[in-house]
Amino acid sequence: MMNIDASKKRVGEAVVKYIKDGMKIGLGSGSTMFYTVQKLGERVKEEGLNIVGIPTSRETAEWAKKFGVPLTDFSNIQQLDIAIDGADEVDPNLQLIKGRGGALLREKIVADAAKEFYVIVDASKTVDHLGAFPLPVEVVPFGWEVTATKVARLGCDPILRRKDGEIFVTDNGNYILDCNFNKILEPKKLQIDLKSLVGVVETGLFMNMTTKLLVGKDGEVIEKSKKDNR
Ligand code: 5RP
Repeated sequence: MMNIDASKKRVGEAVVKYIKDGMKIGLGSGSTMFYTVQKLGERVKEEGLNIVGIPTSRETAEWAKKFGVPLTDFSNIQQLDIAIDGADEVDPNLQLIKGRGGALLREKIVADAAKEFYVIVDASKTVDHLGAFPLPVEVVPFGWEVTATKVARLGCDPILRRKDGEIFVTDNGNYILDCNFNKILEPKKLQIDLKSLVGVVETGLFMNMTTKLLVGKDGEVIEKSKKDNR
């Protein structure tokens, strides 16, 4: 049985086979994506692969610079060929919870701008129902206490995220509420309900966005496509 980090490396590198010359790529965040960015850098160096990426976090941008993956931004291009990202939970319909790293808003903007969205996880992330992982909800700092009270009425006990004793601030200058819904039976409805609250910027529910899922498990990579669910 491989450990989780070995599975992340395996799947993070495996997805790079889908990258072709000339592609514009959304680069997600998290430890699995580290291996993807590293592998992409190798292909740029060894094959002269001509690609450009838009990073979803400052950390990913730093990795791209370190490994030699050229970057751009949305002032230069409007559409991406593919976005690749990790996830915190994936259900059998390829619906996701994301945002453990706090990059969910940029991740969603980037995934939405891509023709295809590939999700890379180790097997510990696959679940029958979303919600055991607390749902990250990005909120505007002003009046976050009022917003949290409204979020709580939807059936959770929101916790303001902190890091090293300080309130965690996203790359967009917002706060994160981690919301323990436990079992989300109607994720699409919850997404609509949360987004209708003033003060909520975005949620970590990624509905109907995944094109292909790659799962690292026991030294193998198992693939599942959107069409397999129909
Ligand atoms: C960050 C995310 C990450 O993609 C998610 O947390 C997975 O991270 P890792 O690959 O480290 O397990 O959503 O906001």
